[in-house]
Amino acid sequence: MEEFVTLAQIDQAVEAIRSRTAREPRIGMILGSGLGDLANLVENPDIIPYKDIPHWSVSTVEGHVGQLVIGELAGQVVMVLQGRVHYYEGYTMGQTTFPVRVMQRLGVEMLFVTNAAGAINPEFEPGDIMLITDNITLLPMSGPNPLRGPNLEEFGERFPDMSRAYDCDLAQLFRDIAREKNAAYREGVYICLAGPSFETPADLRFLQTIGCDAVGMSTVPEVIVAHHGGTRVLGVSGISNKANLDGSTITTHEEVLQAGQEIVPKLKTIFLEILRRI
Ligand code: HPA
Repeated sequence: MEEFVTLAQIDQAVEAIRSRTAREPRIGMILGSGLGDLANLVENPDIIPYKDIPHWSVSTVEGHVGQLVIGELAGQVVMVLQGRVHYYEGYTMGQTTFPVRVMQRLGVEMLFVTNAAGAINPEFEPGDIMLITDNITLLPMSGPNPLRGPNLEEFGERFPDMSRAYDCDLAQLFRDIAREKNAAYREGVYICLAGPSFETPADLRFLQTIGCDAVGMSTVPEVIVAHHGGTRVLGVSGISNKANLDGSTITTHEEVLQAGQEIVPKLKTIFLEILRRI
């Protein structure tokens, strides 16, 4: 694929999906590392492997199944990405965020985006869920922004405002439902780094100083593209590990996947109720 995605490529993917499903999804969901099991809740699913969709990249990472699941969930038509691709796999930012553009052309209005993240905030524990209230755009700020290149005017403007990238009403609904259900949750700022190496203790102390609560290797590019195209975003991190600020522990992909088993039921309870109410 060229460095920059074109509308023609997006629409080829849209056509391929339309030829495999008659459904018109209103909600998109991206399920991060270890969180893919949420897709199993979708009723009467039309399942489309990513490899069958033109220009759609396939994840090389364990814990990312690599298929699109379109069907009903809590009364809504949803389009669930069971696995995503990351910048560290060698994909361009355009490839990484391509699925969001496809969702937008399919008519998706809201995106629920999830990830596995390391806790920088010392109060957070593995298994916690964190409502993302904002993010630090470090990686795109320094060059690889998914909107770099010709602006796709069909989606949005050249210089999009990012002050409300995470939709306030969806975030409030998340809080209200979590409280009603006595479900514990955290709130905080997420930062996306390039990866794939985890951070050094000095990196983590730096990230803490600049105001990050959780760190991962995804989500921010997708949120930029979603917001550019007017898609309302709800972002949630599943805390998979405590980040290693003092160098006393090590971080592994295995623990990231394992924590997902504790996080999926928590996300399920809240997401299903949000879907019922929107
Ligand atoms: N650092 C970066 N990315 C991650 C981590 C982490 O500690 N845990 C899960 N994704």
